[in-house]
Amino acid sequence: MNFHVLTLFPEMIENGMNTSITGRAIAKGLLTLETVNIRDFAFNKHQKVDDYTYGGGAGMLMQAEPVYLAYESVAAHTQGKPRVVYLTPQGEIFNQSMAREMAQEKDLVFLCGHYEGIDERVLEEIVTDYVSIGDYVLTGGELPAMVMMDSISRMVPGVLNNEESGETESFAGNLLEYPQYSRPEEWHGKKVPEVLMSGHHANIDKWRREQSIIRTAQRRPDLLKKADLSNKEWNFVRQLKKQWKEEETK
Ligand code: ADE
Repeated sequence: MNFHVLTLFPEMIENGMNTSITGRAIAKGLLTLETVNIRDFAFNKHQKVDDYTYGGGAGMLMQAEPVYLAYESVAAHTQGKPRVVYLTPQGEIFNQSMAREMAQEKDLVFLCGHYEGIDERVLEEIVTDYVSIGDYVLTGGELPAMVMMDSISRMVPGVLNNEESGETESFAGNLLEYPQYSRPEEWHGKKVPEVLMSGHHANIDKWRREQSIIRTAQRRPDLLKKADLSNKEWNFVRQLKKQWKEEETK
């Protein structure tokens, strides 16, 4: 996977991405990271890349040409036209299946805006995906780009030590992960659930699956609606909900 980031703050991206698991993957050559400073493509002597908006209103806008030239500097060395993700609160909300899908690309370009945004005309010409990381407004696209690159990286083969752990965790099949425990057996008077000490793998798998369902029903009922459950499991969910309702009215 080759990440390319068009930004006014390349050091922010470099510092973040060269740390921890993504840093290790870059060192191993499983990922590459190219940051392009949009300011290097400013066409005036003050290296200014923003200007007032036509029609008035507060704030400055990033101008089309420096952004376009920065994009062209990347597109010049990718195979064909690369996919370009523009980070914006107006985009589709990022999720695990987008991460999984984008991890299949050879190159991904992230365009990070600042100020009040970017001239619409260059967005029309280069952007293929408008993506938001949630319904709140940030000061720029750098953190959202790093959030996306972090989760996409985890889906790239070899990036995680245990090849499995990219799939058997929260959001696999639209269920949250079950609770986990390590030593000691008892902590602050709380014991590790008996079944996990039993060594009976079928029972452990059954317990974990149930816990995933219970947890998703409690914390993310919106996700549970999309979950892959058997008829028996849907019955279990109905029972759970009935039980919770009864407990509420007690
Ligand atoms: N830029 C500013 N806020 C954002 C958000 N929530 N998601 C993606 N890009 C953004």
